[in-house]
Amino acid sequence: MGEAIAIRRVDLSNFRNYASLHLESDPGPIVLTGANGSGKTNLLEAISMFMPGRGMRSAGFDAMLHSHAAVPQWAVSISIDKYDEPLRIGTSWQQTSNGTSQTRQASIDGQPAKGISAFGEHIRLIWLTPAMDRLFAGSAGDRRRFLDRIVAASDLDHRRRLNSFEKLMRQRNLLLGEGQFDISWMDVLEQQMAGQAIAIAATRLAAIDVLQGHIDNTKQAGGTSVFPAARLMLDGEIEATLRHTPAVQSEDEYAKMLCDSRKIDQAAGRTLNGPHRSDLIVFHSEKDMEARACSTGEQKALLIGLVLAQARMVQSAFYGQMPVLLLDEIAAHLDQDRRKGLFDELTRSQAQCWLTGTDRMQFEALNGKAQFLTVTDGKIQQG
Ligand SMILES: Nc1ncnc2c1ncn2[C@@H]1O[C@H](COP(=O)(O)OP(=O)(O)OP(=O)(O)O)[C@@H](O)[C@H]1O
Ligand SMILES: [Mg+2]
Repeated sequence: MGEAIAIRRVDLSNFRNYASLHLESDPGPIVLTGANGSGKTNLLEAISMFMPGRGMRSAGFDAMLHSHAAVPQWAVSISIDKYDEPLRIGTSWQQTSNGTSQTRQASIDGQPAKGISAFGEHIRLIWLTPAMDRLFAGSAGDRRRFLDRIVAASDLDHRRRLNSFEKLMRQRNLLLGEGQFDISWMDVLEQQMAGQAIAIAATRLAAIDVLQGHIDNTKQAGGTSVFPAARLMLDGEIEATLRHTPAVQSEDEYAKMLCDSRKIDQAAGRTLNGPHRSDLIVFHSEKDMEARACSTGEQKALLIGLVLAQARMVQSAFYGQMPVLLLDEIAAHLDQDRRKGLFDELTRSQAQCWLTGTDRMQFEALNGKAQFLTVTDGKIQQG
């Protein structure tokens, strides 16, 4: 096992425009080039299925099924380098005869695994997609999900807590909506919500601090990065309270606030306050300017810097191994210096990174340092 997680083999069947694919991949950078619609993003999406959730496009599992599939099932399997021999992990999804969605199956070395979270012991992935270019200018929800992905990549319980909070909140909203409820039951529900909410907020705060530490370290280490340093801030009532109030007290305060706002929440048809409303605010540190006010290229550079810091954060939390990076259309919006800076940083980090682009020229600086692959209509060739 080296300094970085390395996928050495990818097999796809009936995934998007790949009827079947067998690919052998090197550690280090991998460059996928090909025309629009050839299947570059689809391959990255297939690899992203090894994290919990719906992958880097947040698409439906049925949309991933090859449109002319002979059997209603897609499968993705990869081999990763381990101490002695490669470990094979796989995931598949099958459409039922009545068209309803099935849960995704997971397997490790040919044996059924307990859900996708079982992969967390073996692989970590981080992705950056063109859709994320609008992260700073877009909605708070997108930024919150971005933040929670960062948190979940180093704390495997975070997602479970988020789900359990959501579930409790839905129950509360439902009871409020019905207008009649058992007060003591509502008290219990809100107390449980508060417990989860404080745990979520505390984990987010801790993760933000660790991430900020990694960003600041790069800066202090001589500021070699071509990517501007970010200053992070969590905008959320619970997180703000928790910064200066003990957890037990914060929990009681949030439970009380929920209790006091039953009428307002009932009228609004939802729970107005909680960790489901928090936002991640990012500043361009040097310019002391909020990221949303920065130029397109500056925002992209900030985002890349953030993702690289996140990769180092995951590395510290994951046996010192760099996560696999999926960087879709990464060269877009970057000038030549930044592009070269990015390739240098990626090469130095030893991360296995999957880079895509339509133009091979953009990756010239990686000649001799990366595996080059050409994608054509759901088929991949070396070179
Ligand atoms: N379920 C599916 N079955 C078959 N083909 C699909 C399916 N879903 C998407 N496609 C097709 O796969 C093709 C490749 O898509 P992909 O997003 O991977 O292209 P790309 O190489 O990343 O292109 P671009 O450079 O435009 O980003 C598209 O033409 C798309 O229509
Ligand atoms: Mg694409």
